Amino acid sequence: MTNRRDFLQTASALAAAGFLPRALPAMPTQLGSIGAEPFRARPCVVASANGLRGVQVAYDQIVAGTDPLDAAIAGVNIQELDPDDQSVGLGGLPNAEGVVQLDASCMHGPTRRAGSVSCIEDIATPSLVAKAVMDYTDHVMLVGPHARRFAIEMGFTPQNLLTDKSRQDWLRWRARLNPNDAWLDYDGNVNIRFHTGTINMNAVTAGGDMASVTTTSGMSWKVPGRVGDSPIIGAGQYCDNTVGAAGSTGRGEANIKACGAFLAVEFMRQGLGPEEALLRVMQRVIAMTEDRLLGPNGRPRFDLQFYALAKDGTFAGATAYEGASFAVCDERGARLEKCAFLFKASERPR
Ligand code: GLY
Repeated sequence: MTNRRDFLQTASALAAAGFLPRALPAMPTQLGSIGAEPFRARPCVVASANGLRGVQVAYDQIVAGTDPLDAAIAGVNIQELDPDDQSVGLGGLPNAEGVVQLDASCMHGPTRRAGSVSCIEDIATPSLVAKAVMDYTDHVMLVGPHARRFAIEMGFTPQNLLTDKSRQDWLRWRARLNPNDAWLDYDGNVNIRFHTGTINMNAVTAGGDMASVTTTSGMSWKVPGRVGDSPIIGAGQYCDNTVGAAGSTGRGEANIKACGAFLAVEFMRQGLGPEEALLRVMQRVIAMTEDRLLGPNGRPRFDLQFYALAKDGTFAGATAYEGASFAVCDERGARLEKCAFLFKASERPR
């Protein structure tokens, strides 16, 4: 099994082996500016905390002139191809039947285009498949076996995404499900709760061109066919080149009902800064949450984080409870910063 130390060295070999499609012809990008005067922004990349390595890669690319979506996707590819990140791509935690099903979506601000795939199996880089849907079809979203077939037609190489570690975690979860079934209970330490993990990344160039991408293996142990927020344009990510970009990680079911990424961009359009916009989105999510997911104090029982980047290069991350962080890279380098929050950690329902 590939370990973390080997991973970076083998990433280029993975590309050469076909996990990243090399045969696709480059699409012409249409980087534009708003109005007659060229817009000047602070180049910046913002992501979920697991994007700390990726924001540096994406930032280096945008300052070198790479299209912001290509740069952001290069950033999230690092996690998609990392077998030790169990929230995305290769090594992602599987569904209830032990099958890894991935979701991803992206938006390209300058050309106002979007692409998405959902429940795709066997392809480690669904972010690139989402971009291929955007680049090569008249559609926005492809799902399930058809998305897989499309990816293979476009030159992606299918592979088994279930690493030994994720398979062991799934077997232990299954063994603990029912004390009366034929599987002997695993008595070691295993978290049988559902896990959600994801990577969202948003980028703005010096010219003010923007992009966003979100990719995930979704909720662990999910009902096969479950679709989270990541592939939903306006929920898992959203980008408007005139305003900003936003995205989310965490419990997708909570976010879908609030169209959180779209709402964040709309709040920024109305003049709110990224932090205030995201906190208002979090409040809207809670207002739209069913009682079973709220504690007696009305606080949510789940985790959900939002990230926003305005066209001028200002940014924020926000969540319900104190303690979360997000990744950013700008002229000060790649680093983790603290998310804004609504409640102290002690207010979280048990
Ligand atoms: N936010 C990732 C998911 O819920 O699938």
